[in-house]
Amino acid sequence: MTLRLQKYLALCGVASRRAAEEIIAAGRVRVNGKKVTRMGVLVDPSADRVEVDKRLVRPAGQYEYVLLYKPAGYVTTMKDPFGRPTVKDLVRDVKARVFPVGRLDLDTSGLLLLTNDGELANRLTHPSYGVEKEYLARVRDLPSGETLRRLAAGIMLDDGMTAPATVRLIKGGKPTSLLALTLKEGRNRQVRRMLEAVNHPVVSLKRVRLGQLTLKGLRPGEWRRLNAREVKALKQAAGLA
Ligand code: URA
Repeated sequence: MTLRLQKYLALCGVASRRAAEEIIAAGRVRVNGKKVTRMGVLVDPSADRVEVDKRLVRPAGQYEYVLLYKPAGYVTTMKDPFGRPTVKDLVRDVKARVFPVGRLDLDTSGLLLLTNDGELANRLTHPSYGVEKEYLARVRDLPSGETLRRLAAGIMLDDGMTAPATVRLIKGGKPTSLLALTLKEGRNRQVRRMLEAVNHPVVSLKRVRLGQLTLKGLRPGEWRRLNAREVKALKQAAGLA
């Protein structure tokens, strides 16, 4: 099926059809990488790549948002050159080309969002929007109150100070303790590196929350689509209301 470019842009919520014509005339639209300024060009939404100001546009409601309970032992990628199990193997039934938002380490389990909504994905992984990620970490030995305060206030890692976080001791003990950490940033292996830095290495790690989303109702390896209310809340948390 093909339709006129200005109509397609309107359908995608870029602008009204009239305003879309102006956007096209201004040279802001590309189809399959080529600038289009002529009216009436036909596009096939399922085959053509339409960009406005170099951003891919899609019809509203075409995005997929998948919440996966990633088990440990799966790589957070859609394809692994070493042939290890990937999160893609777990979401085979999702036909859209979704990709993971951020990354959980091979050994980390828990909440992983996959989507083809690039703008939301960017924002969710960018520290400036401060979307909360909560982790349960089982660590070696019993961290002192002072150590918990240091973790919360910010500690120096090789890529700089960590932002303020919330840290709670859920169950203290030996040889291991259970902590809950809520971060607003998501650097590579951040939780593991923070706990390593205070000499309480992680024994196991699970992400239990992203914004308002939790793993409730899912078992390891299971996934579900977000409902409209959840998508809206997530967008709001990322400043995209
Ligand atoms: N922090 C880590 O160290 N690992 C993860 O997988 C996620 C956050």
